[in-house]
Amino acid sequence: MALFNRRADFPALAGNQIAFLDSAASAQKPRAVVDAMLTVMEGHYANIHRGLYKFSNETTAAFEAARGKIAKFIGAPVDEVVFTHNSTESINLVAQSWGRANLKPGDEVLLTEMEHHANLVPWHLLRDQIGIVIKYIPVLDGALDLSNIPLSENTKIVSFTHISNALGTINPAKDIIGRVRAYNPDIKILVDGSQSAVHMKIDVRDLGADFFVFTGHKLYGPTGVGVLWGKRDILNAMPPYQGGGDMIETVSLDHVTYKSAPARFEAGTPAIVEVIGLGAAVDYVTSLGWDAIAAHEKALSDTLYKRLSARGDLKIHSPAQNRAGIVSFTCHKADMADLAMILDQCNVAVRVGHHCCQPLMGKLGVTGTVRASLALYSTPDDINALEAGLDKAVKMLS
Ligand SMILES: Cc1ncc(COP(=O)(O)O)c(C=O)c1O
Repeated sequence: MALFNRRADFPALAGNQIAFLDSAASAQKPRAVVDAMLTVMEGHYANIHRGLYKFSNETTAAFEAARGKIAKFIGAPVDEVVFTHNSTESINLVAQSWGRANLKPGDEVLLTEMEHHANLVPWHLLRDQIGIVIKYIPVLDGALDLSNIPLSENTKIVSFTHISNALGTINPAKDIIGRVRAYNPDIKILVDGSQSAVHMKIDVRDLGADFFVFTGHKLYGPTGVGVLWGKRDILNAMPPYQGGGDMIETVSLDHVTYKSAPARFEAGTPAIVEVIGLGAAVDYVTSLGWDAIAAHEKALSDTLYKRLSARGDLKIHSPAQNRAGIVSFTCHKADMADLAMILDQCNVAVRVGHHCCQPLMGKLGVTGTVRASLALYSTPDDINALEAGLDKAVKMLS
């Protein structure tokens, strides 16, 4: 098994025995991220882009260097990387800016039944505002049923998650994009990479979508920063999402002209320290290398899946194959909230509930699941602790 142990890199784990199995919700932060954020706050903090003095210049340089790192991380030109506050805001930006400018009543948006609410609700809002129609690729046995993708001449955008946060299912994104392009190359495609940017190498050019979004806090970075990648021509044809400072070229009392992307979409003071922290997170992940991270997580995820499946008292909802380090289950013998409480007493952190995927839970016929999710710092001990905790909980509750 190609395992490594990086727990010592994460201060909250190094000083604690916790089996942290809730990384799909938000990941722990490595020392490198904490240090990078402290360095800017303690060393040369100032607002960016507008100051003509040393602190501001240094902070601006660090902020834009982070943009460069993130662009390289996903294989994009630097001016196609827009900073938002999270994936949710990135998707809302596309729905409200691109959607309002390009969609009319009756136009169709194609989503999937496994989307996080962040890729459902923005489109519902748009439907209520302008009368679009939302269609869904169905889920079958924990994966997308691609046998009959409901595309039509009215489909204008397809927006789907790369990896299911609730089940860990890795969707065949390139295949889906290829089929959509073959049907109609004018259909826009958004990939929600909130989970995938954490578990696999992303090359947005190779993937072939029009938009790719992810969120900093799941990628070992801080909260408050997210990314929207979009193709330059599409971004520059989109109207601003919010108005304010730093996104304009000129403002008069009756007229405004706007900068090109990415500034056009970055109104107001951005999450300066957090962006720099995310840059450090990307450096950290890159320094370990995707091959090593993927091999480690695959080995652990296989073990987790095998061990939980073998128990007999759990129903596993995650697929056996094409799955990231996420295993979702329900227990025949215990309520999930009770399970989580006893696991917490055993110092095991898992997530229970609908995982912001209520339509998917409905499809699975459950109100929620217990979700154990892995990260690069997870170890076999975490899985042992989960198993021991489950043994104890099931004994107490059944
Ligand atoms: C697949 C997916 N999309 C979107 C989001 C939303 O991320 P954020 O809350 O950081 O905007 C999440 C978070 O759980 C997610 O897992």
